Amino acid sequence: MLSNQADGDKRRSLHGHWSSRMAFILAVTGSAVGLGNIWKFPYIAGQNGGGAFVLVYLVCVVLIGMPVMMSEILIGRRGRRNPVATMKLLGQEEGSSERWKWVGGMGVLAGILILSYYSVIAGWTLAYIVKSVTGAFAGASAGVVGDEFDSFVSDWRLVALTHTIFMGLAVFVVARGVERGLEQAVRFMVPALLVLMLVLLGYAISSGYFGQGVAFMFTPDFSKLTWGSVLAALGQAFFTLSIGMGAVMAYGAYLPEETSITGASAAVVTADTSIAILAGLAIFPLVFANGLTPGDGPGLVFNTLPLAFGQMAGGVFFSTVFFVLLSFAAWTSAIGLMEPAVAWIVEHFHKTRAQATVGVGLLIWLLGFGSVLSFNVLADTKFLAGTIFDNVDYLTSNIMLPLGGLLIVIFAGWVMCRNSTADELGNSGGLFKAWRILARYVAPIGILLVLINAVR
Ligand code: PHE
Repeated sequence: MLSNQADGDKRRSLHGHWSSRMAFILAVTGSAVGLGNIWKFPYIAGQNGGGAFVLVYLVCVVLIGMPVMMSEILIGRRGRRNPVATMKLLGQEEGSSERWKWVGGMGVLAGILILSYYSVIAGWTLAYIVKSVTGAFAGASAGVVGDEFDSFVSDWRLVALTHTIFMGLAVFVVARGVERGLEQAVRFMVPALLVLMLVLLGYAISSGYFGQGVAFMFTPDFSKLTWGSVLAALGQAFFTLSIGMGAVMAYGAYLPEETSITGASAAVVTADTSIAILAGLAIFPLVFANGLTPGDGPGLVFNTLPLAFGQMAGGVFFSTVFFVLLSFAAWTSAIGLMEPAVAWIVEHFHKTRAQATVGVGLLIWLLGFGSVLSFNVLADTKFLAGTIFDNVDYLTSNIMLPLGGLLIVIFAGWVMCRNSTADELGNSGGLFKAWRILARYVAPIGILLVLINAVR
């Protein structure tokens, strides 16, 4: 195999390349592992009745998430540009149409919309670092922990402040660029987060309610499953894997030629899914041990884990470390959410990376006020899916990401010729065939079925 430099015919990305295969896996894992695993997965699973939802989610991850992720990476690496330009270029190269650029465009928009609320929740985790350090949870009861959460989110100024700080942090890293910024932020976070989740798991096992938590998560009651909850599971699979919006495509553009896309995708999917399942296993026993309800919504993790920390030896320390890590996880995900928009602006409008990042960051910060106010001043202003936060979340996770994913697998499976995809994935027999069957038939039909049945 030629080295990357000698490989003169191959494109290079304007933004530089990952320094190694491991750096890429870390970056995509950093983007995938975030609030989606620890904050969102447990509360969505709780709202949708547990077991059956979790099963559908796992099926979606394997049969749809995995082929979509591979498709995104291979498209990104082949185009070596931002998602808009890459889709346009490959659309032309493959003899189709440059209109495929709109798939990239929808991704840019989805990233901006998602980060507008993601940053608000990430702000909560920043606030919880402070609460942890000051020992607010030491020995606290479920009532005290719940009040602490309610009084925090009902103060819109505090929520706005922490949202602002988080956006500042995100802009700072993205502005520094691919190698200096993105890579360094993810190196230690994922392993450290895994260790902390295991500590929490240990506590959950000792709580006496572990069996009940496990039963809730893994005993499927299909009578509770509606098309709405199947769509929620599909949307969660997309959200948690960072797919369907070009984040992984943008990262793929910086991927060296010789890295195995299948191997990298499998590693990311495994890490991401394990952390989500661990989070559920740590949280649901606490829900039952303290007489809370699993379907309580976005406050779930903030109302449960502090209880465990409050009763543990060394709880102040563990709690602080946990919320620091969760903030880091959110931070590395925020980078992925901004990257498509920033890369597009840099390439399309010839701005510097710093200018593009500040501009996108300001827009997202402003939009974020819709979600800041959804938990206090505008909590009772409800339409369609609920508050502004609920609507942005529903529109992005349940509509835009699955739709983006659908178009991406159709592009990779049907529009790109077999040779182009084989060239990127390596035409090594079984794995390539399996990817092609999933990308051409299973994933598109699956996504379409769920979207049509849930939305009509
Ligand atoms: N996957 C991230 C999480 O689980 C969220 C995300 C979505 C990040 C899309 C980037 C792109 O928290």
